[in-house]
Amino acid sequence: AEGDAVAGKKVFKKCAACHAVGDGAKNKVGPQLNDIFGRTAGGLDGYKYSKAMIKAGEEGLVWDNETMGTYLKKPRAMIKGTKMAFAGLRKDKDLDNVIAYLATFSAE
Ligand code: HEM
Repeated sequence: AEGDAVAGKKVFKKCAACHAVGDGAKNKVGPQLNDIFGRTAGGLDGYKYSKAMIKAGEEGLVWDNETMGTYLKKPRAMIKGTKMAFAGLRKDKDLDNVIAYLATFSAE
């Protein structure tokens, strides 16, 4: 479903302890999320990913609406060994909205 980027900005508060996005975003506990759509998983230079995330990228995982939705719903179910310490977003609406919000910071 189409998400609502304005509502997604609020959902992103759950991510913001670990992730920055937008002008001048720096890596924190997690990688900065500008231009995340279309990027290979584990592909941001200068951020130290888990082995599991690097392997997922090597196996062809690219972030799009669908793959990010699966990851954010239950990160450790999709990528066993990911170091993202986040249980996941249970509500599909929150997922759609946060993805729509992140898409506003991606060229693709
Ligand atoms: C990785 C999104 C919450 C820590 C990632 C990636 C995405 C993402 C898309 C993959 C990045 C890449 O491949 O370059 C989100 C969103 C969140 C959220 C949208 C909220 C809904 C959190 C929270 C934490 C966190 C709360 C910290 C407690 C991390 C870490 C990684 C990561 C450490 C690297 C994972 C690894 O190398 O295995 N996140 N995240 N994230 N995130 Fe999050």
